[in-house]
Amino acid sequence: MAKENRLREERPADRPFQAIVAVSKNNVIGNGGKIPWHVPDDFRWFKKKTLGHIVLMGRVTFESLKRPLADRSHLVLTSRPGDRRQNAPEHYRQFHEWSEGSSPSSNPNDSFEHWLLSSREQLDAWLKTFLPPDRSVYLCGGKKVYEQFLPRCSDLFLSRIELEVEGDCTFPPYEDQFELKKRWRQYESFQIEHYCHRA
Ligand SMILES: NC(=O)c1ccc[n+]([C@@H]2O[C@H](COP(=O)([O-])OP(=O)(O)OC[C@H]3O[C@@H](n4cnc5c(N)ncnc54)[C@H](OP(=O)(O)O)[C@@H]3O)[C@@H](O)[C@H]2O)c1
Repeated sequence: MAKENRLREERPADRPFQAIVAVSKNNVIGNGGKIPWHVPDDFRWFKKKTLGHIVLMGRVTFESLKRPLADRSHLVLTSRPGDRRQNAPEHYRQFHEWSEGSSPSSNPNDSFEHWLLSSREQLDAWLKTFLPPDRSVYLCGGKKVYEQFLPRCSDLFLSRIELEVEGDCTFPPYEDQFELKKRWRQYESFQIEHYCHRA
């Protein structure tokens, strides 16, 4: 209970998210709908950080995964939830479509529910209704989602991948909004930087 209260206090109402991203030396985050490197340690870091929590992502990023990530709830933004469920059922079989009056499942086996949300307003309504005090919401990309929601992140965890790569997706500017708190090298192939929102 004490832990729950601490998490509730630490999550500012106007900044309910924490962003997590991996960025190349030339600021690339993606190419052709995929991440253009294979750095298993970064996936391990991402997994360790997000496990048991909620991952928020755009439709393009979600559809680049083969299936929902284990032991995490997914919030996927798309302007066409009905269309995606119909045309890409292999991706969205386990998803609920949010609507007015939706409520959390009472099934204890359903602790990692997945939701399709069609707007920022739906996302805010979801947060009000469903967000448990003991879970964080990690903003996991891609570019369109970082652009919109970085201002609503309390923290940014940025992996600096030591490669120059070609890409069609870059990480939006964040330096004016965030200040570096800590930098560490836990793994050989990249370093991790933790930023906090300045305000
Ligand atoms: N390096 C990293 O850490 C990292 C992390 C994540 C992703 N990536 C890369 O980033 C790239 C994808 O980025 P992206 O910008 O193309 O796509 P994205 O942000 O993953 O998804 C964009 C889509 O999300 C939906 N969306 C976004 N905001 C919405 C809103 N407010 N309301 C309703 N729907 C909304 C829209 O879907 P609809 O078109 O269906 O309406 C939009 O087209 C990929 O290359 C991926 O591999 C890299």
